[in-house]
Amino acid sequence: MKSFLEWELSLSEKIEDVNKRLHESIYTEEDALLRMAKYTLEAGGKRFRPLLTIIAYRIASGKDYHDILDLAAGYELIHTASLIHDDIIDKSDLRRGRETLHVKDGIDNAIVVGDYLFAKAYELGSRYGAVVSKIMADASSRLAEGQILEAENLGNLELTEETYLRIISRKTAFFFAACAEGAAVAANCDVLLRKSLTDFAYNLGMAFQVTDDILDIVGNEAVLGKPVLVDIKHSAITLPIIYALKNSQENKRIMLEQSLKGKVQDGDFDLKAYFLETGSIDYSFRMARGYITRAVDALKNTGTSPDIDLLMELALIVIERIEELA
Ligand code: IPE
Ligand code: IPE
Ligand code: MG
Ligand code: MG
Repeated sequence: MKSFLEWELSLSEKIEDVNKRLHESIYTEEDALLRMAKYTLEAGGKRFRPLLTIIAYRIASGKDYHDILDLAAGYELIHTASLIHDDIIDKSDLRRGRETLHVKDGIDNAIVVGDYLFAKAYELGSRYGAVVSKIMADASSRLAEGQILEAENLGNLELTEETYLRIISRKTAFFFAACAEGAAVAANCDVLLRKSLTDFAYNLGMAFQVTDDILDIVGNEAVLGKPVLVDIKHSAITLPIIYALKNSQENKRIMLEQSLKGKVQDGDFDLKAYFLETGSIDYSFRMARGYITRAVDALKNTGTSPDIDLLMELALIVIERIEELA
């Protein structure tokens, strides 16, 4: 199986084209805005969403990807904007291996830069007509719903798995789905293929966020390019936390509850070991794998092609990242 790095390397030409389009699309005469807009955007990032858009378009249209670059770039702009705002909310100081924009240039500027990237994204999306524009706008609305639902439930020790899944579908999975669906609509493909690609992407997004929530506990900051244990420090109740709260001895559960309230000093309690011991990492991993199975199943009637293979590889990479990055 390909590793994440090998997969990205096999797509380096597409990534370079996306990066070029991103660079062109954020141009403004205001030097300070341009500098800040470039800062997070050009720090890297896996570019999963634009790659998903491009590959889905190639499958849906039978054409190459150049006509879809604006849409692919648009989705990456929305994603990057949401990260800039998310880091303010999560009080996180590292993103894509760099100091976060709000730490570097202040919260006021970071809010404006995020807004600017959202606006530029819709401009790019509008080039594909009303239906694609609506898919893109709906994905952003869902993202806002997910973020608000997460905020409402910070520190909620009673949070159910059902509500957790609702949060991550809003903040991540619908966005992945929109990448594929926007591409399918732009390609004018038949309804069944559109649905298969959209279902694939939705389930991939669910697995991706569960994986991200696992990596927040077992991941490595240097490799991830962002801090770990942010969710616990921020009292965001994720799947491994829900499981651990339900399945640990009283004394350990109290330590977790205290950690979620910010009452435990770093080093006083080995959170990573504790989560591994409760089985919550295994449980969450199985859940992620279940979504990957559903993603792969969604493509079972699409036939085979090198691009379908690329999506299948991506599906596996999303969960294999846990082993690579832990
Ligand atoms: C981070 O997304 C936000 C989540 C939905 C978990 P990515 O892990 O795709 O971030 P970049 O784009 O590679 O930095
Ligand atoms: C995803 O959630 C954020 C968005 C979808 C905007 P996280 O808060 O878990 O993302 P990271 O871990 O900061 O990248
Ligand atoms: Mg965050
Ligand atoms: Mg996270």
